[in-house]
Amino acid sequence: MSQSPLHRQFPPHFVWGVATSSFQIEGAAHADGKGESIWDRFCKQPGAIADASNGDIACDHYHRLEQDLDLIASLGVNAYRFSIAWPRVQPLGHGGWNGKGLDFYERLVDGLRQRGIKAWATLNHWDLPQGLQERGGWNDRDTVHRFVDYARHVQARLGDRIDGLTTHNEPWVVATLGHDHGNFAPGIKSRKIAAQVSHHLLLSHGLALQALRADGAKSQLGIVLNLSSCVPATAMPEDIAAAAMADARGRRWYADPLFKGCYPEEVLAELGADAPVVEPGDMRSIAQPMDYLGVNFYTRTVVSASGADWGAKERGLPVTDMDWEVYPQGLTDLLCLLHRDYPELPPVYVTENGGAFRDQTFANGRVQDDDRIAYLRGHIAAVASAMQQGVPMAGYMVWSLMDNFEWASGYLKRFGIVHVDYKTLDRTPKASADWYRDFLQAWRG
Ligand code: FCB
Repeated sequence: MSQSPLHRQFPPHFVWGVATSSFQIEGAAHADGKGESIWDRFCKQPGAIADASNGDIACDHYHRLEQDLDLIASLGVNAYRFSIAWPRVQPLGHGGWNGKGLDFYERLVDGLRQRGIKAWATLNHWDLPQGLQERGGWNDRDTVHRFVDYARHVQARLGDRIDGLTTHNEPWVVATLGHDHGNFAPGIKSRKIAAQVSHHLLLSHGLALQALRADGAKSQLGIVLNLSSCVPATAMPEDIAAAAMADARGRRWYADPLFKGCYPEEVLAELGADAPVVEPGDMRSIAQPMDYLGVNFYTRTVVSASGADWGAKERGLPVTDMDWEVYPQGLTDLLCLLHRDYPELPPVYVTENGGAFRDQTFANGRVQDDDRIAYLRGHIAAVASAMQQGVPMAGYMVWSLMDNFEWASGYLKRFGIVHVDYKTLDRTPKASADWYRDFLQAWRG
């Protein structure tokens, strides 16, 4: 392990960012012709959101764009990862386009450019138009083609100003939490549907990449996966097997098709009759070469065959406010595993990493979030360590720029390095924002 200060362990071209997503920060749920999304609808289900809130206002980013752009610039980052709300661009997900929706994102990418910040845009960070859900959503193969049209439409208008274009954010979450567990939109509980959804998400990614390239893509194209390092709870063979299976379901189900063009056999066998319908040519379409892989990492997963809850909190390990274990070494382990399993791995960006903590706010709106600083520092060091072991790391982005709507947890969990007062919508940088800014300043030298 190198002894040089952490900032010196990163090369000059390294990409440093902060990340957000449309539904979590924009608000303006009905502004300028925006259509309803499946998250708008899901929030209306009694009990779906912990604090019975919704994204109608969120951080009101839609109306505070200039101020937020200045905030991003004040951190000294060279990249900003955001997502485009499909229902703003195409209210029903099929049929007519809404020019005003793309006007907003044009102001966003131009504002980033003016400030010398790279634009990293995600096309699907979960807010599917409700109009498509009514036709079957991601379970319907036609949605794949609707997504390709949407991707092409966005690229035609903004592609010359987007540095990194991501098809999907965390397809596992959309498939499994949205369609099997049902605790995320659209709230469906069917393993069979979830499996089909995962296939359609991957297929739409591959077909979109083909179409975007045929149209002359100028951005780097890729996908973002949520990955965890799965470790057995004990050295017993049953636990080792259970951990391998959890890894196959969560990581290899997505990464194997992308990099090897096939689903893991053991997961197909487990799904049996619930396995997705795969048409001839689909797997080849999915396995398009990518310019980068985005990895969202929060915690490791400890697995036991008995299915007993190996909650980190119960074991007395350090956890965040999500009860997710703080374990930076898991990020190094995961990145090295990806490099080993997929030797052709393109440049890797950690596209999300961060922690929710019970921030204490002082009278001046100031938050001294030392836990978050330690979390970020530890994980940035974990990236450096993976890089030293040969993993082609290219960037790191903090989740999140500011506190925001944390899906089923509503506004109860705060991930921001900037505090948001939900009454006044005032933004106040936390100590972690200052730490990140100072770190980046040292890195620039
Ligand atoms: C990820 C999501 C992101 C955020 C973080 C905490 O799964 O991509 O939107 O909610 O978790």
